[in-house]
Amino acid sequence: MKLELKTCTVRSWEWRDRDAIVRHANNRNVWMNLRDRFPHPYTDRDARNWLECIVGHEPETNFAIAVAGEVVGGIGFILQHDVARRSAEIGYWLGEEFWGRGIATEAVIAVTAHAFANHDLCRVFAHVFDWNRASARVLEKAGYEFEGRMRKSVTKDGKTIDQLMYAIVRECLFVGVALRGHPSYP
Ligand SMILES: CC(C)(COP(=O)(O)OP(=O)(O)OC[C@H]1O[C@@H](n2cnc3c(N)ncnc32)[C@H](O)[C@@H]1OP(=O)(O)O)[C@@H](O)C(=O)NCCC(=O)NCCS
Repeated sequence: MKLELKTCTVRSWEWRDRDAIVRHANNRNVWMNLRDRFPHPYTDRDARNWLECIVGHEPETNFAIAVAGEVVGGIGFILQHDVARRSAEIGYWLGEEFWGRGIATEAVIAVTAHAFANHDLCRVFAHVFDWNRASARVLEKAGYEFEGRMRKSVTKDGKTIDQLMYAIVRECLFVGVALRGHPSYP
Protein backbone atom coordinates (compact mmCIF):
# COMPACT_ATOMS: atom_id res chain seq x y z
CA MET A 1 0.00 0.00 0.00
CA LYS A 2 1.27 3.45 -0.82
CA LEU A 3 -0.58 6.77 -0.59
CA GLU A 4 1.34 9.81 -1.79
CA LEU A 5 0.00 12.82 0.13
CA LYS A 6 1.06 16.47 0.12
CA THR A 7 2.99 16.41 3.39
CA CYS A 8 4.00 12.73 3.61
CA THR A 9 3.67 9.23 2.22
CA VAL A 10 1.60 6.60 3.99
CA ARG A 11 2.92 3.18 3.01
CA SER A 12 3.46 -0.42 4.13
CA TRP A 13 6.05 -1.03 6.83
CA GLU A 14 9.39 -2.40 5.61
CA TRP A 15 12.27 -4.15 7.38
CA ARG A 16 14.60 -1.26 6.55
CA ASP A 17 12.48 1.08 8.73
CA ARG A 18 13.94 -0.27 11.99
CA ASP A 19 16.51 2.44 12.78
CA ALA A 20 14.16 5.27 11.84
CA ILE A 21 11.42 3.88 14.09
CA VAL A 22 13.77 3.96 17.09
CA ARG A 23 14.99 7.45 16.19
CA HIS A 24 11.47 8.92 16.24
CA ALA A 25 9.58 6.63 18.66
CA ASN A 26 12.09 6.84 21.50
CA ASN A 27 10.60 10.02 22.93
CA ARG A 28 8.75 10.51 26.21
CA ASN A 29 6.51 13.21 24.70
CA VAL A 30 5.27 10.70 22.14
CA TRP A 31 4.86 7.92 24.73
CA MET A 32 2.91 10.21 27.09
CA ASN A 33 0.01 10.26 24.64
CA LEU A 34 -0.12 6.57 23.78
CA ARG A 35 -1.04 3.34 25.54
CA ASP A 36 1.65 1.74 27.66
CA ARG A 37 2.07 -1.07 25.16
CA PHE A 38 4.03 1.51 23.11
CA PRO A 39 7.39 1.04 24.86
CA HIS A 40 9.52 3.68 26.52
CA PRO A 41 12.45 3.78 26.19
CA TYR A 42 11.92 2.48 22.64
CA THR A 43 14.79 0.17 21.73
CA ASP A 44 16.10 -1.54 18.64
CA ARG A 45 14.58 -4.79 19.95
CA ASP A 46 11.16 -3.07 20.24
CA ALA A 47 11.35 -1.93 16.63
CA ARG A 48 12.30 -5.46 15.54
CA ASN A 49 9.38 -6.94 17.51
CA TRP A 50 7.01 -4.43 15.92
CA LEU A 51 8.19 -5.23 12.41
CA GLU A 52 8.01 -8.99 13.07
CA CYS A 53 4.34 -8.55 14.01
CA ILE A 54 3.46 -6.21 11.21
CA VAL A 55 5.43 -6.81 7.98
CA GLY A 56 3.32 -8.89 5.63
CA HIS A 57 0.44 -9.15 8.10
CA GLU A 58 -2.98 -9.52 6.45
CA PRO A 59 -5.29 -7.71 6.49
CA GLU A 60 -2.88 -4.79 6.40
CA THR A 61 -4.14 -2.23 8.92
CA ASN A 62 -0.87 -0.62 10.11
CA PHE A 63 1.14 1.79 7.99
CA ALA A 64 4.30 3.84 8.15
CA ILE A 65 4.26 7.61 7.73
CA ALA A 66 7.33 8.66 5.72
CA VAL A 67 8.80 12.05 4.87
CA ALA A 68 11.56 12.33 2.27
CA GLY A 69 11.88 8.54 2.21
CA GLU A 70 12.33 8.09 5.96
CA VAL A 71 9.76 6.76 8.39
CA VAL A 72 8.80 9.46 10.90
CA GLY A 73 5.70 7.88 12.45
CA GLY A 74 2.96 5.31 12.22
CA ILE A 75 -0.79 5.09 11.76
CA GLY A 76 -3.19 2.17 11.89
CA PHE A 77 -6.61 0.91 12.81
CA ILE A 78 -7.81 -2.03 14.84
CA LEU A 79 -10.82 -3.86 13.46
CA GLN A 80 -13.30 -4.57 16.24
CA HIS A 81 -15.13 -7.83 16.82
CA ASP A 82 -18.49 -9.35 17.73
CA VAL A 83 -21.27 -6.74 17.76
CA ALA A 84 -18.71 -3.96 17.16
CA ARG A 85 -17.43 -5.69 14.02
CA ARG A 86 -18.32 -2.76 11.73
CA SER A 87 -16.16 -0.39 13.82
CA ALA A 88 -12.42 0.24 13.88
CA GLU A 89 -10.21 2.21 16.26
CA ILE A 90 -7.65 4.49 14.64
CA GLY A 91 -4.32 5.39 16.26
CA TYR A 92 -1.24 7.33 15.15
CA TRP A 93 2.02 8.89 16.28
CA LEU A 94 4.65 11.15 14.78
CA GLY A 95 8.24 11.98 15.70
CA GLU A 96 8.28 15.26 17.62
CA GLU A 97 10.42 17.18 15.14
CA PHE A 98 7.65 16.68 12.56
CA TRP A 99 4.77 17.99 14.67
CA GLY A 100 2.80 21.02 13.52
CA ARG A 101 3.11 20.54 9.75
CA GLY A 102 -0.34 19.05 9.12
CA ILE A 103 1.11 15.57 8.61
CA ALA A 104 -1.11 13.70 11.08
CA THR A 105 -4.26 15.39 9.80
CA GLU A 106 -3.51 14.40 6.23
CA ALA A 107 -2.59 10.85 7.24
CA VAL A 108 -5.76 10.43 9.36
CA ILE A 109 -7.94 11.63 6.49
CA ALA A 110 -6.26 9.29 4.01
CA VAL A 111 -6.21 6.22 6.27
CA THR A 112 -9.83 6.76 7.34
CA ALA A 113 -10.86 6.82 3.68
CA HIS A 114 -8.69 3.73 3.05
CA ALA A 115 -10.31 1.89 5.97
CA PHE A 116 -13.84 2.65 4.77
CA ALA A 117 -12.95 1.72 1.20
CA ASN A 118 -11.36 -1.63 2.05
CA HIS A 119 -13.41 -2.94 4.99
CA ASP A 120 -17.09 -3.28 5.74
CA LEU A 121 -17.00 -0.48 8.31
CA CYS A 122 -19.62 2.04 9.30
CA ARG A 123 -17.61 3.71 12.09
CA VAL A 124 -14.01 4.67 12.87
CA PHE A 125 -13.28 6.02 16.34
CA ALA A 126 -10.40 7.29 18.45
CA HIS A 127 -9.79 7.68 22.17
CA VAL A 128 -7.74 10.75 23.07
CA PHE A 129 -6.19 11.50 26.45
CA ASP A 130 -7.78 14.63 27.91
CA TRP A 131 -4.48 16.56 27.84
CA ASN A 132 -3.83 15.83 24.14
CA ARG A 133 -5.30 18.94 22.48
CA ALA A 134 -3.24 18.43 19.31
CA SER A 135 -4.73 14.99 18.65
CA ALA A 136 -8.28 16.19 19.34
CA ARG A 137 -7.70 18.99 16.85
CA VAL A 138 -6.32 16.53 14.25
CA LEU A 139 -9.50 14.46 14.51
CA GLU A 140 -11.75 17.52 14.28
CA LYS A 141 -9.89 18.71 11.17
CA ALA A 142 -10.31 15.21 9.70
CA GLY A 143 -14.10 15.33 10.11
CA TYR A 144 -14.41 13.26 13.30
CA GLU A 145 -17.01 14.38 15.85
CA PHE A 146 -16.60 14.63 19.59
CA GLU A 147 -19.01 12.11 21.12
CA GLY A 148 -18.21 12.29 24.79
CA ARG A 149 -15.88 12.17 27.70
CA MET A 150 -14.93 8.80 29.18
CA ARG A 151 -14.37 9.88 32.75
CA LYS A 152 -11.31 8.53 34.58
CA SER A 153 -10.92 5.82 31.95
CA VAL A 154 -7.11 5.57 31.73
CA THR A 155 -4.14 5.69 34.04
CA LYS A 156 -1.06 7.12 32.36
CA ASP A 157 2.21 8.08 33.95
CA GLY A 158 0.67 7.75 37.42
CA LYS A 159 -2.36 9.93 36.67
CA THR A 160 -5.93 8.71 36.18
CA ILE A 161 -7.50 10.92 33.53
CA ASP A 162 -10.48 11.28 31.18
CA GLN A 163 -10.43 10.26 27.53
CA LEU A 164 -12.28 12.01 24.74
CA MET A 165 -14.21 9.85 22.31
CA TYR A 166 -14.14 10.96 18.68
CA ALA A 167 -15.75 9.12 15.78
CA ILE A 168 -16.67 9.40 12.14
CA VAL A 169 -19.43 7.35 10.55
CA ARG A 170 -19.58 6.41 6.92
CA GLU A 171 -22.29 8.84 5.83
CA CYS A 172 -20.46 11.79 7.44
CA LEU A 173 -17.33 10.85 5.52
CA PHE A 174 -19.07 11.68 2.28
CA VAL A 175 -21.50 14.39 3.37
CA GLY A 176 -19.27 16.32 5.76
CA VAL A 177 -15.67 16.18 4.73
CA ALA A 178 -16.04 15.53 1.02
CA LEU A 179 -18.15 18.64 0.65
CA ARG A 180 -15.38 20.60 2.25
CA GLY A 181 -13.41 19.47 -0.77
CA HIS A 182 -10.59 17.49 0.74
CA PRO A 183 -8.90 15.59 -2.08
CA SER A 184 -7.98 12.59 0.09
CA TYR A 185 -11.62 11.61 0.52
CA PRO A 186 -13.37 9.75 -2.29
C1 LIG B 1 -1.00 14.24 17.94
C2 LIG B 1 0.00 14.29 16.79
C3 LIG B 1 -0.14 13.02 15.97
C4 LIG B 1 -0.33 15.51 15.93
O1 LIG B 1 0.45 15.47 14.76
P1 LIG B 1 0.70 16.78 13.87
O2 LIG B 1 1.18 16.33 12.53
O3 LIG B 1 1.53 17.74 14.63
O4 LIG B 1 -0.79 17.36 13.72
P2 LIG B 1 -1.26 18.46 12.67
O5 LIG B 1 -0.12 19.37 12.38
O6 LIG B 1 -1.94 17.77 11.55
O7 LIG B 1 -2.39 19.24 13.50
C5 LIG B 1 -2.16 19.63 14.85
C6 LIG B 1 -3.21 20.64 15.25
O8 LIG B 1 -3.23 20.72 16.68
C7 LIG B 1 -2.99 22.05 17.07
N1 LIG B 1 -2.30 22.00 18.35
C8 LIG B 1 -1.05 21.58 18.61
N2 LIG B 1 -0.79 21.68 19.91
C9 LIG B 1 -1.92 22.16 20.49
C10 LIG B 1 -2.28 22.49 21.84
N3 LIG B 1 -1.42 22.33 22.84
N4 LIG B 1 -3.53 22.97 22.07
C11 LIG B 1 -4.42 23.14 21.05
N5 LIG B 1 -4.11 22.84 19.74
C12 LIG B 1 -2.89 22.37 19.49
C13 LIG B 1 -2.17 22.65 15.95
O9 LIG B 1 -2.20 24.05 15.97
C14 LIG B 1 -2.91 22.03 14.75
O10 LIG B 1 -4.15 22.64 14.54
P3 LIG B 1 -4.35 23.82 13.41
O11 LIG B 1 -3.97 23.23 12.09
O12 LIG B 1 -5.80 24.17 13.52
O13 LIG B 1 -3.43 24.94 13.80
C15 LIG B 1 1.46 14.41 17.31
O14 LIG B 1 1.54 15.49 18.18
C16 LIG B 1 1.92 13.16 18.05
O15 LIG B 1 2.40 12.21 17.45
N6 LIG B 1 1.78 13.16 19.39
C17 LIG B 1 2.20 12.00 20.21
C18 LIG B 1 1.37 10.76 19.93
C19 LIG B 1 -0.11 11.04 19.93
O16 LIG B 1 -0.60 11.92 20.60
N7 LIG B 1 -0.87 10.23 19.16
C20 LIG B 1 -2.31 10.34 19.11
C21 LIG B 1 -2.92 9.57 20.22
S1 LIG B 1 -4.71 9.77 20.27
